[in-house]
Amino acid sequence: MPSDFIPLSVPHLAGNEWSYIKDCLDTGWVSSVGSYVDRFEREFAAKVGAKAAIACASGTAALHVSLLVAGVKPDDAVVLSTLTFIAPANTIRYVNAWPVLIDAEPRYLQMDVAKLGDYLENGCRWEGKELRDRKTSRRVSAIIPVHILGHPCEMDPILALADRYRLAVIEDATESLGSRYKGRPTGTMGSLGCFSFNGNKIITTGSGGMIVTDDLALAKHAKHLTTQAKQDALEFVHDEVGYNYRLSNISAAFGVAQLEKIDAYKSDKRRIAACYDAAFESLPGIRTPEIAPWADSNEWLYTIRINAEAFGIDSRTLMRRLKDSGIETRPLWQPMHRSPAHRKATAWRCEEADLINDEALSIPCSVGLKPEEQTRVIDLIREAHKSAQ
Ligand SMILES: Cc1ncc(COP(=O)(O)O)c(C=O)c1O
Repeated sequence: MPSDFIPLSVPHLAGNEWSYIKDCLDTGWVSSVGSYVDRFEREFAAKVGAKAAIACASGTAALHVSLLVAGVKPDDAVVLSTLTFIAPANTIRYVNAWPVLIDAEPRYLQMDVAKLGDYLENGCRWEGKELRDRKTSRRVSAIIPVHILGHPCEMDPILALADRYRLAVIEDATESLGSRYKGRPTGTMGSLGCFSFNGNKIITTGSGGMIVTDDLALAKHAKHLTTQAKQDALEFVHDEVGYNYRLSNISAAFGVAQLEKIDAYKSDKRRIAACYDAAFESLPGIRTPEIAPWADSNEWLYTIRINAEAFGIDSRTLMRRLKDSGIETRPLWQPMHRSPAHRKATAWRCEEADLINDEALSIPCSVGLKPEEQTRVIDLIREAHKSAQ
């Protein structure tokens, strides 16, 4: 790795991480129980304004357990935006349900609520009190709004549709800690919300996740399932099939320290985004991220769109050029309706997501990105445009 390599998004470890982790090592509380697990859950719930939080081994584990406790059953259909990292689609399959993939809208790149409404109205029918997909006859039981790149989905229409069609809402807020929709923190508007603390997220625990909910019965069930569903700890009686999805005390200590910094990290992300916005304002062929009027985004991953004709080269050529200069960038995820892993999923009017995927490129925006590093990224992008003319 060259010494001036600029990564896409890496952790920033400048707070109490060492001292809290050392405390775990000094006291011997290193494994799956300990005061930091309780503290992380308590402080996280308070931070997002939820009644309960359950620490998990990963964001994927949080989503898996949330689908189970929300009552998603085998052969159900669960609605999801096609433009997402694969984890929520995979967790739908973990519970033997099937994703129904809805297109993304072109401005904020989130689930297109008009197409969601169209699917529920025209792609489904009522059978008694159950909503069923017209083609597959599967019961449609839940929606997962994924707040991609940190920007909130348009939740009011989603919640209204969920209410009208009696669907559980499980928010995938893994990328959006600190973001708000009309003042409401992402993750707290559905019945359950899930967060991730993997290495590239706005805060990290190395690997980890969290479920939040205001429903204490769901919280109790989620905690039970993440801790092997142990009914009698002494006699090892387990009343259902549970999972070892606990977060270790060491990871939780890491999380407590990171959570202390979330507000500062969010301002750093926004400062970085504002600087890129200004730099690219007049550069032809670059579309900078739009923030909806109802959104307060943590701007987790700064993602531009490159119009190849106007810019001179396409997003992947730009990616390779930047890589040659030691700068890491990344396209968005292959839309789920193109994913070989989900070829059997239902896709509903997925027309925009492919174009977004062709054009999108996430560029370096780590919390610790130095001004001179950001200037180098900007200069190289400008040069790439200039040399393509
Ligand atoms: C949208 C989305 N959902 C789920 C996950 C899964 O989180 P984790 O990697 O912690 O399992 C991630 C991150 O990786 C993600 O970006």
